Amino acid sequence: VAEALVRRRRVAAPHLEVDHLPLWTEELPPFDGPALAAKYARLAGRGLDPLQAEAWSAIEGLVRRLDAADEVLLSTPMWNLSVPYRLKHYIDLITQPGLTFRFEPEAGYTPLLRDRPVTIVVASSGDFATGQSYGRPDLLTPYLRAALAFVGLRSVLFISVAPTAGPPEAVDAAVARSLAQLAEPVA
Ligand SMILES: Cc1cc2nc3c(=O)[nH]c(=O)nc-3n(C[C@H](O)[C@H](O)[C@H](O)COP(=O)(O)O)c2cc1C
Repeated sequence: VAEALVRRRRVAAPHLEVDHLPLWTEELPPFDGPALAAKYARLAGRGLDPLQAEAWSAIEGLVRRLDAADEVLLSTPMWNLSVPYRLKHYIDLITQPGLTFRFEPEAGYTPLLRDRPVTIVVASSGDFATGQSYGRPDLLTPYLRAALAFVGLRSVLFISVAPTAGPPEAVDAAVARSLAQLAEPVA
């Protein structure tokens, strides 16, 4: 479904440049040790030591890459009610003081990224539209909405592909419904 969306965008905008970040195969920098210390140092207004500065510059690169996009497409499965760890890792990396949000005690948190259209394709075995999720809640949608709004990305459209488990006809129908949704004009 995500690939179909990109193909459609290419038809509408032949000069579209696509920067694909395959979170499942690309080695993201670890977010621990010096990177974590750099985040706290920045929050406290302290300078960074050389190791922290190196870790921070990798994070800046990822944020620059995101910020260069005029629109964003996320394609993800639901895992254990929410996002898979690879996507959570990415969100933890790009959610940074001075880069994507600012905190001031008087004003609270201010997002720093300019808003732009974000489409999120979510595959799940549970169908949350019809309630065929066997009691499992959808924490992915509210989490991603809040996490992206926190950094300034508020114009989010979710496209659900569900259910992806069960009889093949039901799965095919789910994909067909999502593809039909792509063709609808965005409100
Ligand atoms: C580790 C794991 C956890 C999952 N947790 C959920 C879940 O909480 N709710 C749900 O509806 N589906 C869950 N699923 C099913 C996947 O969301 C579903 O199979 C989806 O189509 C996988 O997408 P993919 O084929 O693009 O990897 C889970 C699958 C895996 C592997």
